[in-house]
Amino acid sequence: MIYTIVGARPNFMKAAPIHTAFARAGIPHALVHTGQHYDEAMSKVFFEDLGMPRPAVDLGVGSGTHAEQTGAVMVGLERYFERERPAAVLVVGDVNSTMAAAIVCAKLGIYCGHVEAGLRSGDWSMPEEVNRAVTDSVVDLLLTPSPDADRNLLAEGCPAESIVRVGNVMIDTLQAHLPRARVLDVAARFGLRQQGYAVLTLHRPSNVDDPVTLGRILGAIGEIARRLPVVFPVHPRTRKQIAVAGLQTKVEAAKGLTLCEPLGYLEFLSLTSGARLVLTDSGGLQEESTVLGIPCLTLRDNTERPITVEVGTNVLVGTDPGTIVAEAEHGLTGAPRGRVPELWDGHTAERIVAAVVERI
Ligand code: UD1
Repeated sequence: MIYTIVGARPNFMKAAPIHTAFARAGIPHALVHTGQHYDEAMSKVFFEDLGMPRPAVDLGVGSGTHAEQTGAVMVGLERYFERERPAAVLVVGDVNSTMAAAIVCAKLGIYCGHVEAGLRSGDWSMPEEVNRAVTDSVVDLLLTPSPDADRNLLAEGCPAESIVRVGNVMIDTLQAHLPRARVLDVAARFGLRQQGYAVLTLHRPSNVDDPVTLGRILGAIGEIARRLPVVFPVHPRTRKQIAVAGLQTKVEAAKGLTLCEPLGYLEFLSLTSGARLVLTDSGGLQEESTVLGIPCLTLRDNTERPITVEVGTNVLVGTDPGTIVAEAEHGLTGAPRGRVPELWDGHTAERIVAAVVERI
């Protein structure tokens, strides 16, 4: 059996097409859920939306400090894999579950591939940067989405034969679900018309855990919302920090700004695909907006996905309120539509399966 590890929300849309491609090839494949994300809105709805089977096991690790979460995944997975002896394991993305699983495989001598290998922001204060670098240093197969990732890995001394550029697997999912998502017209539920609003997501610790930074960002968003309505599905971490910072009343009263619970995959894709502008600190949304041709303002100073800036619609705007508001104005008055990077073509999962099968 080959296993793909999922743990947190951004993993699910990457694992879904991989599971389908293994099934189509007639190769036994199952999902292992670490349980890092456990809320219905952060996990279960994605299994339903994406038609994924129930995981073979859910380790139920839940929330905690980084060490607690990483350690719990390692202990649970080691026990499971010692019993199951997988033929190979795939890990996706850059969350704590990804790194924990990669280390367990390395220690147990289980062949392991990393999907989305080689991405680097150069920002070591981001927990995900640590996860990326550690993961890539211990896996056997580095499955990359773009040429910059290949270059990063070669510069770190990874052997060229372990690097296979396969493209962006999340775009397989986007392409497969876009027609169904568009029909939903989630914007209408908020009383908005297509192209008549912006979408905001915010959850990076560096943006939401410090009340001053969070207040500055939300202040800028409030200004933008006066001109263009903004829909803001709020991540649980952010919901908590808005309350801690005492910003709840102010944010809820901001004209043009609508807060809602986190959305499922189809609903969120419906919302973003109809948006005029995206504001985010998410990695995946930088890529999705590039493919959708929607201007994206990334509320960070760096990105591990520079290709979305080079060829796509993405602009790094940081967290300075003046810059955010000015760049939003600019984005609304005709940003270039960008183009889709090579191999982001809906067939990445097939290439992943081929690369794994060839090597085990
Ligand atoms: C994690 C990933 C991040 C990814 C993000 C997407 C790491 C280090 N971070 O961040 O890379 O972009 O997922 O969402 O792996 N919580 C709930 N319900 C849940 C999950 C979390 O309420 O189902 C709350 C808890 O209060 C928890 C907090 O959110 O403590 C943070 O969750 P955690 O998994 O530690 O990190 P994320 O911020 O979600």
